[in-house]
Amino acid sequence: MTAPPLTGVVSVDGVVTPIAEGRVSVMDHGFLFGDSIYEVVRTRGGRPVAMAEHLVRLRQSAAMTYLRLPWTDAEIAARLRAAFEASRLPDAYVRLVISRGAGPMSLLPDGCERPTMVVYVLPLVLQTAAEIERGMGVVVTERLRNDRRALAPAAKTGNYLNNVLALVEAKRAGGDDAVMVNPEGFVTEATTANLFWAKGGTVFTAPLDGSVLAGVTRSLLLAQMTREGVPVREGRFDVAEFRACDEAFLTGSIRGVSAVVRIDGRAVGDGRPGPLTRRAAAMNERLIEASTRDW
Ligand SMILES: Cc1ncc(COP(=O)(O)O)c(C=O)c1O
Repeated sequence: MTAPPLTGVVSVDGVVTPIAEGRVSVMDHGFLFGDSIYEVVRTRGGRPVAMAEHLVRLRQSAAMTYLRLPWTDAEIAARLRAAFEASRLPDAYVRLVISRGAGPMSLLPDGCERPTMVVYVLPLVLQTAAEIERGMGVVVTERLRNDRRALAPAAKTGNYLNNVLALVEAKRAGGDDAVMVNPEGFVTEATTANLFWAKGGTVFTAPLDGSVLAGVTRSLLLAQMTREGVPVREGRFDVAEFRACDEAFLTGSIRGVSAVVRIDGRAVGDGRPGPLTRRAAAMNERLIEASTRDW
């Protein structure tokens, strides 16, 4: 008789246990100072989606935070694979967190001997067809996206408290997610997703100037839109331009493409996912298929 599938496992420095049993030192600088970086990869048919792109971004986040990774890409992928296989899940949400490691009670990383690598493998919960059709509401929050000259949003770090607070505030205001403006007054992204909108057949999104995360989904979609001749403009746009959109959507590795059907409580277009949003969702499905590779 086979054991029932576990609902999640975690690998801490290569030791795999059920999720509830994973432990990290209280002196880990990831816990103490948010001094960590991360990636989230999904699988399809037991294989990772866009793994190479996620590993490139992991190394960019490491460089931006002066974190030296003592592993090759193959070693990191092997850890993810081992944890995924131990989970016995058919498909999974795989979160890789690399922290500065345990060290003295000091901001300085110098005393941390080596980074801690944690891999969470959880059931993959995707949007249902009904949820996709219903769409979501966003609220443009007072809370700003971090300035790119501070801890740049381009680095995917464990410092998400600003986004946590923006999300709480958006929910309190009746939305499902926040859209944040940066200190220069330009629209950036949502709390865990890139933002796109369309007006008159052109798709708009914030540029990769450090003010937003370089989403893997974002870049694959932009390249595909360009190949298919969809007019795209990456640029610095203010809230009035965003609010005047015909349709809008969010992108991310787990969510895929989510239609935004309300901004600050007001319907976008006819309040249903628009044609470019549907087209982006269909493109994303094909891109997922095309970027799925063996471990
Ligand atoms: C702030 C932020 N922007 C965008 C994204 C989407 O990135 P990706 O498409 O690589 O999942 C994420 C994903 O977690 C995020 O946290």
